[in-house]
Amino acid sequence: MTTSPSAVALAPSEIAVLARAVSRAPSVHNTQPWRLRIHYSDADLVERTEIWLPRHDPDGRDRTMSCGAALAHLQPAARVLRRCGTTSFPRTGAVVATVRADPGASPDSVELVRYHAISRRRSHRRWFAGNEVSEVDCSAVAAAAGEPGVRAVVPGHLDALGEMLGFATRVFRADPAYQRELWMWIAHTCGFHGLGAEDGVPEGSLSDEALPAAGLVRPDTPVPDDARVTKRLRPGRFLVFCTDRDTRPEHLAAGAAVERTWVEAAARGLVGSVLTQPLHLLGFRELLAERLELPGRPQAIFRFSHPADPVPPLPRRPLTDLLPGDFPGTGAEPDDPPRSTL
Ligand SMILES: Cc1cc2nc3c(=O)[nH]c(=O)nc-3n(C[C@H](O)[C@H](O)[C@H](O)COP(=O)(O)O)c2cc1C
Repeated sequence: MTTSPSAVALAPSEIAVLARAVSRAPSVHNTQPWRLRIHYSDADLVERTEIWLPRHDPDGRDRTMSCGAALAHLQPAARVLRRCGTTSFPRTGAVVATVRADPGASPDSVELVRYHAISRRRSHRRWFAGNEVSEVDCSAVAAAAGEPGVRAVVPGHLDALGEMLGFATRVFRADPAYQRELWMWIAHTCGFHGLGAEDGVPEGSLSDEALPAAGLVRPDTPVPDDARVTKRLRPGRFLVFCTDRDTRPEHLAAGAAVERTWVEAAARGLVGSVLTQPLHLLGFRELLAERLELPGRPQAIFRFSHPADPVPPLPRRPLTDLLPGDFPGTGAEPDDPPRSTL
């Protein structure tokens, strides 16, 4: 298949819009494991496989899910630029998706609302306000997942969920190798580059308030007893994202589904956080699927409700890092002819 004759090269200002949207996506430990490659009117989302968290994410599942979340930002950004946003998925290599940016119809109101909510979405690991989320909001958030192979399930048996999260908290708290790796990404805030860098999770954002339902477990994380854990879960609403199998395309789709629901929650004035940490413990997912009677393999747990307090946005790598070549240049020369695609 060749690039369509109606294709129009992405202008530098449009590339900046795409890059900003991608950069605001959530990612495991705020590693931002993605890059953008622009070819005339197409945008390749590239997974940075050199980013690896051997203790937290040995199979790279969270890294691919993070790229799925970035894709869920790239597509609506293409649409607000009145580009079609059609997406193809190469089967191999580091390019996880190519978003076509041929001219398209104007975005509808739902697309616009969700696009604008991207900048308001952030990880909220704190207490929620006491007021219940309405059934209308709950259904709309779950329905926003929009990936046929991914089911967003409201879990029953919250006591079983609480018990299992409490168990995982104790295991991670006592694992020195795990804690060393985590420390690299949260120490005095930011990632490998130290203070002031643009990746990693600032310590201040990792409140212990809502653990083990939200957050990352550190050596001094308090572990409440099981009954109290379950009580802590109650003010929030939960969705568990499940897929039939455990392949890379399914991880990508799960990440996109999680992020679409998260953005829909933000559009409705709700806040939330994603938890995958316990799902990396050996045997945890199988037992969780059995105890919560889930219809597949759990990939992520999303907790959401009304905010008690606002939380500030976390830093991001500069856009120059995201795009090879001089930003807002494209990495390709402006006069490059349209690329042929498979
Ligand atoms: C695949 C994936 C897994 C994540 N797992 C966890 C987790 O287990 N615990 C947690 O507190 N945050 C988790 N997060 C949230 C990230 O830490 C967060 O997105 C990142 O620090 C950027 O912050 P922001 O969401 O406020 O933009 C996860 C995010 C993604 C995309």
